[in-house]
Amino acid sequence: MDRMKGKVVLVTGAGSGIGRATSELLAAEGARVIASDIDRTGGEATAKAIGAAARFVAHDTSSEADWVRVIEGIRSAEGRLDGLANNAGIAGPFPSRFADETVEQWRRILAVNVEGVFLGCKVAVPLMREGGGGSIVNTSSLAAFVGTPDLSAYGASKGAVRQFTKTVAMDCARKGWKIRCNSVHPGVIATRMGDAILPDERARERMKKRIPIGDLGAPRDIAYGILYLLSDEARFVTGAELVIDGGMNAI
Ligand SMILES: NC(=O)c1ccc[n+]([C@@H]2O[C@H](COP(=O)([O-])OP(=O)(O)OC[C@H]3O[C@@H](n4cnc5c(N)ncnc54)[C@H](O)[C@@H]3O)[C@@H](O)[C@H]2O)c1
Repeated sequence: MDRMKGKVVLVTGAGSGIGRATSELLAAEGARVIASDIDRTGGEATAKAIGAAARFVAHDTSSEADWVRVIEGIRSAEGRLDGLANNAGIAGPFPSRFADETVEQWRRILAVNVEGVFLGCKVAVPLMREGGGGSIVNTSSLAAFVGTPDLSAYGASKGAVRQFTKTVAMDCARKGWKIRCNSVHPGVIATRMGDAILPDERARERMKKRIPIGDLGAPRDIAYGILYLLSDEARFVTGAELVIDGGMNAI
């Protein structure tokens, strides 16, 4: 119940899927949650479902100006930031093969998935330092470990997030800032993004057969990993990769 008691956490992409489940779980464990999303309807619904422990803020994570506004808002309203779940992400149409992918699509996916994560770390770390430290969890993917011919820009973006996470972790640790930074790597999770990749029952059943555990993941499966990494239970964990994929990366 109290694993996040007294902590202020910003969750991006909180209006749907993994971000919503993470926001709800963090709040249930005692956190004050700032639920941000580019989608006002979804983000407001998440904050409403949580109640007094959450508030919604409109936020395009690919915009530096938005990041500065959101973090300054937290500085004024909450006065501190203990955790950041850099979760917002997009995948583009499926399939997106490198031979056909447009430069515009490639840039948009990298702008949200990579620049968004970079900006989050850059802009949030000073406020975390003021409060004596914190924890950042960047949502990468199983796609960071394997070739993804049907999602070319997406795979590249998640590989970048995996690597950049270690850079932030090392830099913060060496400087003694008491800020940890880790990545989570979901496999195939039943969310809006997951549905876009597996649009019908046949595709879902085929995918289940490829997953050693025999089922798709649920948003909560990832939320529990993010909760652990944001909590003080993970005080000795930084620069790590938490793979939550039903065993797919072990094949
Ligand atoms: N679902 C999967 O199978 C899967 C697998 C691996 C990794 N992931 C990653 O998990 C994260 C969450 O994805 P999900 O499956 O919950 O998808 P989702 O589509 O359900 O949720 C993504 C959320 O991000 C928001 N968003 C998109 N662009 C944004 C922007 N520029 N600024 C702010 N918010 C933005 C959307 O509005 C949405 O609410 C993503 O980073 C995704 O890449 C998902």
